[in-house]
Amino acid sequence: MSQTQSSSVVVPLDLHVNGRRHALLLDPRTTLLDALREHLGLTGTKVGCNHGTCGACTVHIDGRRQLACLTLAASASGRPVVTIEGLAGPDGTLHPMQAAFVEHDALQCGYCTPGQIMSAVACVQEGHARSDEQIREYMSGNLCRCGAYPNIVAAVRDVANAGDA
Ligand code: FES
Ligand code: FES
Repeated sequence: MSQTQSSSVVVPLDLHVNGRRHALLLDPRTTLLDALREHLGLTGTKVGCNHGTCGACTVHIDGRRQLACLTLAASASGRPVVTIEGLAGPDGTLHPMQAAFVEHDALQCGYCTPGQIMSAVACVQEGHARSDEQIREYMSGNLCRCGAYPNIVAAVRDVANAGDA
């Protein structure tokens, strides 16, 4: 059997996602993006380019934004991961950033939106939302084919000004 066919090799993972622990046995090459979507059914994190250039797969690991398509699930084992599904409150109350995106009509098709929101929350928490220019710079890794950028900036600005993220 060639090396590329050695799919019977699995490693035990302990993924902590949105406050829940999941014990999984996965091929060590599995990305966090695939683990979330294909193995945990958390499809809010989107597959865009799958090459680290669009931001659609942005999640938080250890409270910092990361591209799930470039992260091996094994490297996230035992670390707190938050996806878009974990952002709203337990009673369904939207996170302030989610509410701001709705209020500012910051989505059209919505495909990029989960990644945008995860980046936006991190952007504010990092203190990188002090001006529209800074918001654009620190959100520049998240592409939107619909061109909702002005509305996205407005939503991030509102949350940053309210100190809500
Ligand atoms: S799917 Fe990960 S950056 Fe595009
Ligand atoms: S809202 Fe459609 S890609 Fe951004």
